[in-house]
Amino acid sequence: MSESVKVFASVMCANWCNLEGDIRELESAGIDGLHFDIMDGHFVPNLTMGFDIVRSLRQITQLPFDVHLMVEEPERYIDRFVQIGIQFISVHFESTPHVHRAIRQVKDAGVSAIVALNPATPPCVIDYLLEDADGVLVMTVNPGFSGQVAVSAAVRKIADVKERIEQLGSNAFIQVDGNVSFELAPIMIRNGARILVGGSSSVFVKGMSISESVRELRHVIMSAVRGVRV
Ligand code: DX5
Ligand code: ZN
Repeated sequence: MSESVKVFASVMCANWCNLEGDIRELESAGIDGLHFDIMDGHFVPNLTMGFDIVRSLRQITQLPFDVHLMVEEPERYIDRFVQIGIQFISVHFESTPHVHRAIRQVKDAGVSAIVALNPATPPCVIDYLLEDADGVLVMTVNPGFSGQVAVSAAVRKIADVKERIEQLGSNAFIQVDGNVSFELAPIMIRNGARILVGGSSSVFVKGMSISESVRELRHVIMSAVRGVRV
């Protein structure tokens, strides 16, 4: 049943001096997708990559691309990412007063639409979005930086989001991003996570190769899904 839990690699945590090499290793390790953290220096106090890097990498791999927009006015950027050939786009609830419109913009372009929630944002904000959103991204760190420690309340919130999704009769999946470590991944899965974003905590781990770390992550996922109804 491990195939029901997917692992996306956070490109922000890869070796940028050898991105192609890392992507080939991720492919051989059987990674399920690439997660791109897009930051604008306003919604979060950091800058990362833009259209050109994502477009260049689109030329060299068939892996599903997942764009996590940590930007103000996400509506301004959605169409240009869609044109690159993206499979998932997440928009932060907190990043626009018109999050429903932004989610529709993603959906109408034929891309899976995910609503992302900061650690302090309560689960009830998804109530009127679930008719349109395909998934909910529960941020377990405050967005903007890799290598942070998970906010434990946000790890618990995964279960509350799961309960809410079930109560509303939705099929939305839960993605979790931030300090997805070998220790926390099983708890996140038990709480309802079905797509894990692996960064410096589990896919690009110091002292381990990408293949070793993905193998270890798969191992803990296998143990966690045993006995969990998925
Ligand atoms: C944080 C990013 C993440 C994160 C994951 O804003 O969205 O993708 O870097 O990596 P670690 O495991 O370093 O938290
Ligand atoms: Zn992310």
